[in-house]
Amino acid sequence: MAHLWSGRFAGDPDAGLVEFGASFGFDRRLFEDDVEGSIAWAEGLERAGVLTRADASIIRAALEDLRSRGSSDPALFTSEAARHDEDVHSFVERELVARVGEAGRRLHTGRSRNEQVSLDLRLYLKRRIPELQQAIVQLAGVLAGSAEAAAGALMPSYTHMRRAQPILAAHFFLAHGAALRRDHRRFIAVLEEVDELPLGSGAIAGTSYPMDVQALARRLGFSRVVANSVDAAGDRDFVSSFLHAGALAMVHLSRMAEDLILFTSEEFGFFELADSAATGSSLMPQKKNPDPLELVRGKTGRVIGRLTGWLATMKGLPIGYSKDLQEDKEALFEAEDTLRASLGATAAVIKGLTVNADVARAAASGLLLATDVADYLVAKGVPFRDAHEIVGSLVRRLVAERRSFDALSLDEWRAHSPLFDADVREFITPEASIARKRTPQSTHPDPVAAALKELRQWCTSSITPTR
Ligand code: ARG
Repeated sequence: MAHLWSGRFAGDPDAGLVEFGASFGFDRRLFEDDVEGSIAWAEGLERAGVLTRADASIIRAALEDLRSRGSSDPALFTSEAARHDEDVHSFVERELVARVGEAGRRLHTGRSRNEQVSLDLRLYLKRRIPELQQAIVQLAGVLAGSAEAAAGALMPSYTHMRRAQPILAAHFFLAHGAALRRDHRRFIAVLEEVDELPLGSGAIAGTSYPMDVQALARRLGFSRVVANSVDAAGDRDFVSSFLHAGALAMVHLSRMAEDLILFTSEEFGFFELADSAATGSSLMPQKKNPDPLELVRGKTGRVIGRLTGWLATMKGLPIGYSKDLQEDKEALFEAEDTLRASLGATAAVIKGLTVNADVARAAASGLLLATDVADYLVAKGVPFRDAHEIVGSLVRRLVAERRSFDALSLDEWRAHSPLFDADVREFITPEASIARKRTPQSTHPDPVAAALKELRQWCTSSITPTR
């Protein structure tokens, strides 16, 4: 079996080691990118006077034919010949030569797989990141729908997983939407990092042919060319940036999942999972389990693992290309697949979620209004620290007596401070509490409505029509 480098060796490589080194099993995902890059390279060689116009057009036609075969006939990738291909680059070149003979054998002039693989990955991310971003926008749209459906429903917010202050349930959904917006932006930054053409770097030292790399960059949709061929050969920072953006997006989905697992449980009961988004138990007839959410939370570990694994792979590498870098692809593809599936699953679960407004409101009343009681005294001129202490001792008493603010008589209120009047009762409802919030990021119904509207607008303007 001939390899791309067979001329150098007298004997055949060990079959087991060939298999160990092969990446075609997973890098065939880069097929269309490899073909795209190869067509552009052939055109570039022609412009540089390296390929004749005739050879360049033969190569171009054959590669286009190969590309359409590849998209219509999956058997192309599993043919007897393809079984021996080391990677997608060898596959494309072998198929090309099989079609056009000598002209095909001229394509690799001045080019190395080292830059090809970097190019392919960059082209791949340029087309796939926007798809992930669309899935993020769709999930944000689902959260906006939940916020809207929650209307004026109240729920407790938590710090330290202890009841903190009342909020609108809509504010909770929009909080998760805010994190997704950052994920979207982070992927924009990854796209920006990816946006550099590595071609012209050769194997490491650059290429000896007068390639117009700026024109090549424009032709392939890149806005700039890498600065240094040695760096370019071994630079996969953009892979780690992608993995970080993916891992953090998964962390956000995991936290969302955790919140929903808790809040749909019997203990909280603020939300109800749709039957279609839950699973039963083979043994316990009462169970309604949040399996999809648990899987999202669980799969987050994979993506974090891919990020840390990839950083570990890179850390010992000398500058320039090393075969270790081949490990980038499975990390990237698995992270991408996991994030894509998790975004879809999360959206499906949240779409069917309903709010148990009375249960959630009941949990949003009671002692978590203590800050509001303190604010009442502040409004009467008491320094906040003193108010905090007065209310603290009132809370201590109520906890001991297993009562809450609404059970207090006016005399009992006044025993803690003569400044309490009958109006304290309407001051310390969850509705009054949220209505007193003043800042644009707060849970006051007006800013929440404005934030919802703004999120909707963002979703509409960020959705690209499907091709
Ligand atoms: N399959 C290789 C990879 O993924 C392509 C580059 C191979 N380059 C080389 N010099 N062996 O990194």
